[in-house]
Amino acid sequence: MSFTADRLILFGATGDLAQRMLLPSLCALDADQLIAPDLKIIGTARSDMDDAAFRNFAREALEKYLPADRRGSMAGFLNRLSYQPLDATTLEGYEELAAKVDRTGKGIAIFLSTAPNLFEPTIAGLKHAGLADGDVRIALEKPLGTDLASSRDIMDAVASAFDEDRTYRIDHYLGKETVQNLLALRFANILFEPVWNAQYVDHVQITVGETVGLEGRVAFYDDAGALRDMVQNHMLQLLALVAMEPPTSFDATAVRDEKVKVLRALRQVEAAETVTGQYRTGAITGRSVPGYDEELGKESNTETFVAIKAHVDNWRWKGVPFYLRTGKRLPKRVTEIVVQFRCLPHSIFADKGAKTQPNRLVIGIQPEENIHLSMMAKMPGLDREGIRLRSVPLDITLPDAFTGTHRRIAYERLLLDLIEGDQTLFVRRDEVEAQWQWVDGIREAWDESAEAPKNYAAGTWGPSAAIALAERDGVSWHD
Ligand code: BG6
Repeated sequence: MSFTADRLILFGATGDLAQRMLLPSLCALDADQLIAPDLKIIGTARSDMDDAAFRNFAREALEKYLPADRRGSMAGFLNRLSYQPLDATTLEGYEELAAKVDRTGKGIAIFLSTAPNLFEPTIAGLKHAGLADGDVRIALEKPLGTDLASSRDIMDAVASAFDEDRTYRIDHYLGKETVQNLLALRFANILFEPVWNAQYVDHVQITVGETVGLEGRVAFYDDAGALRDMVQNHMLQLLALVAMEPPTSFDATAVRDEKVKVLRALRQVEAAETVTGQYRTGAITGRSVPGYDEELGKESNTETFVAIKAHVDNWRWKGVPFYLRTGKRLPKRVTEIVVQFRCLPHSIFADKGAKTQPNRLVIGIQPEENIHLSMMAKMPGLDREGIRLRSVPLDITLPDAFTGTHRRIAYERLLLDLIEGDQTLFVRRDEVEAQWQWVDGIREAWDESAEAPKNYAAGTWGPSAAIALAERDGVSWHD
């Protein structure tokens, strides 16, 4: 459905995501004149405040979370904002909200950044107030449920008011420039595609390391754990982008059709192919930090680290393991994808005493945005005692390659696409379901094995069993 929204209703407007990401992203888009001057933003949340108080609230968030050189004229942006207090669980509130929203404009985009238990009452309220009909689209922030069944309940409730074309499921990793760059690397170059398969690739590693701990999200995180919080969404999206077949075009249907095929080809993993961990007291960059149980204030069996050996059962990837690992309180914040190529079938340098190492492509997603390909080269010299070869990097640091452009917040891209109606970087229902199905299978395997997460000291790369998981196959995690 193609229209550019001229009203954006932000549910959860006083929440953490709105402060840290959504309001700053919208202000940055405004500063770059990327949103139409007539776009109005209506914030809504439970807190009782008026327009002026909300603008103040937003100003404080922008001063805290948006660098000064990206704020533009904040006054212009703040003038777009208004606010309507709302108890999302009562229908009357939505009538008042509807009264505040001018219905004569071009179209409405609604962004739900609230607790998932409010999704269903919110949909009911929007329907009741006539805010779900016509040129209205809706974006949903994760978590979309805690398993396949609960996510279907949420998605059914949403589908009762918004068809798939008007539903935008957020995975903010898809808004990251470097994640999109994966598609450019694979499909805007002819070099990689011919070797991007089981014949040439030995294995793939995907690491999402975080140094932060619970960050106050105690109840949410303890219910979720690393598997649901990070693997079900961000890591599986990364895996799908790495493993998918070339789409016929860069449009929403073509890209999402290919991703869902990969997600459906994921083999159910057994408990023995996973390792879970929970951090204990340790140190992150020299600063001592408490263990998970201390932060939580009780004992818990929730995993703050998970490593998985995954398999994509299709022609392209048969026999190529995908090692995934993610965790809180790891030594550094890093998201990277490593494609490890196979050894040479035959080395002509072997009888000259030279060793070769397989090529390796490392795609750094954050904090460094770079692409690094290790290549074998001959070391300079007359080689009187045999040829010496060494692995040398072919490096592209993306910010250096594109100087003068600034790094955008992932939500800038996603909010703009939501306003303009491009679903390519949003997750389709069948993808979410395939993701949950796979994750539910892992949880079932864990329930059967009843093994508690292993301890790891904060500031280390998870339990030693995670290293062993890869080493059993002669693989070492890229560090
Ligand atoms: C969120 C998770 O989806 O992603 C958080 O709920 C996690 O636990 C965050 O910290 C990581 O996002 P980023 O963009 O900082 O890598």
